[in-house]
Amino acid sequence: MKFLRLNSKVILAPMAGITNLPFRLLCLEYGAAAVFTEMVSADALAMGNRNSFSLAQTDALEKPVGLQLFSSNADNLVKAAEMMQKDFDFIDINMGCSVAKVLKQQAGAYLLKNPARVAQIITKVSDAIDIPLTVKIRSGFNSVNAVEIAQIAENNGAAALTIHPRTAMQGFSGDADWDIIKKVKENIDIPIIGNGDIKDAPDAARMLDKTGCDYIMIGRAARGNPFIFRQVNEYLDDGKIIAQTNAQKIADFMRYFELAEKFNLMSLNDIKTKAQQFTRTLPDSCRLRREIAALNDIKKIKELITELN
Ligand SMILES: Cc1cc2nc3c(=O)[nH]c(=O)nc-3n(C[C@H](O)[C@H](O)[C@H](O)COP(=O)(O)O)c2cc1C
Repeated sequence: MKFLRLNSKVILAPMAGITNLPFRLLCLEYGAAAVFTEMVSADALAMGNRNSFSLAQTDALEKPVGLQLFSSNADNLVKAAEMMQKDFDFIDINMGCSVAKVLKQQAGAYLLKNPARVAQIITKVSDAIDIPLTVKIRSGFNSVNAVEIAQIAENNGAAALTIHPRTAMQGFSGDADWDIIKKVKENIDIPIIGNGDIKDAPDAARMLDKTGCDYIMIGRAARGNPFIFRQVNEYLDDGKIIAQTNAQKIADFMRYFELAEKFNLMSLNDIKTKAQQFTRTLPDSCRLRREIAALNDIKKIKELITELN
């Protein structure tokens, strides 16, 4: 099945603990072409774990959105994908996560060590669902095999592939090797989403230009900064960088707060973290960070940020 036709080039990366429903909606409002949920355990969904369903919370307003699943078990991936597909525009399988908790389950980037398992999973899940299946990979586990894995993905039914070109063993060290994105793109016909180290709009344009990838994906640079999607789209259109004012950064946090309230997703921890992330580039942000950390009441955090105006 073909991937979706997206309205712009720039996609929000899945980020555990960050890309919840209100944050994703805000990124879509700012022009993200598509968004992904954070990784959700297909094993836990298949067992009916309530907490995992809340990580997969979406809304009819949220479009296009992909549900990212992780597991090493093809049957659980099939079960979870079949169960959840009605609420999503595509399903993504995480074959890139390198955190110990996921590798211990032989999931995430661990799968890159086993191309036969990759083929089996992609075949089974793509056959089972009526929406596109995508996969997100790293360049390899401890050595690079991205082109081989991407070919397997394409030949077995994946509609698009995201690549973050660092090996799992590299974690986030060193630079993302954009030449690997280029190699994958040259060898594959399905749309390629390039990811890794895009810090600003000119980086986004450079990745498109250097690698020929179809779409670009932004992770860390979007934390507390959904405005980056408007900047990238504008820059790709006319080469101009729109500056973001401090007032806009505060307004963005307020909009996040409003959406979190609307969808009943207010937690002290999340509001604290988001308040710190959204205000990270304001003047005197170190002091502000400490002040936010010391507050134990969501309303007080909102008041503190409102008073910055
Ligand atoms: C806090 C955090 C959480 C992440 N969680 C996920 C995840 O749930 N699924 C996934 O595929 N990648 C996850 N990633 C990786 C990102 O999607 C992305 O591939 C990586 O950060 C490189 O892109 P960037 O340089 O734009 O940040 C996470 C990254 C960070 C920093």
